[in-house]
Amino acid sequence: MKLIFATNNPHKVEEIKAMLHRDIEILSLQEAGILIDIPEPYDSLEENARTKSVTIYEMTHLPCFGEDTGLEVAALGGAPGVKSARYAGEDRSFDANIEKLLSNLAEKQDRSARFRTIISLILDGKEKQFEGICPGKIIDRKKGTHGFGYDPVFIPNGSAKTFAEMEQAEKAIFSHRRKATDKLVTFLNNLI
Ligand code: IMP
Repeated sequence: MKLIFATNNPHKVEEIKAMLHRDIEILSLQEAGILIDIPEPYDSLEENARTKSVTIYEMTHLPCFGEDTGLEVAALGGAPGVKSARYAGEDRSFDANIEKLLSNLAEKQDRSARFRTIISLILDGKEKQFEGICPGKIIDRKKGTHGFGYDPVFIPNGSAKTFAEMEQAEKAIFSHRRKATDKLVTFLNNLI
């Protein structure tokens, strides 16, 4: 089965390709020859993920999925959440986002946070959503060089390392994206 993954984020494509069963082939937007940047205008991960999958389905009428992820920090009332990519501004700088997060958390005792991923799959014109959650905490300085986004300041529960100190396979043991992807794969395998 071939599925278009409605993203231009090469980190996400690499992570999800490594997680999938070999019978399921993923094409990024670039690999599918679709050169657009899909906006994320909504206030929920669910609506943004759906916009991505619906946009690509309407263009191609092929099986496809969109994904939206947010970092939800308890002491910040769930922020940056759906605004995680643009927390510090429209240029989506990972470093500036982390700097703003650490500054907003400077006086806070509660460092608990979670990543939440929503995958929206469209098959035969019907949508199905899958959720993955990774609970953990935000540390007070960056550690590690792997991964992307908030990985250098996020330690998942059950580990002493940040995501950025882990190789991709180790991050996948804990990852929100892997948990959502597992549900997607189970659903697809039941169809094959
Ligand atoms: P979006 O799903 O592309 O809107 O991603 C939102 C933002 O969340 C990204 O720009 C990253 O900063 C962050 N993010 C998403 N997934 C991860 C992850 O696995 N690790 C660290 N940061 C992530």
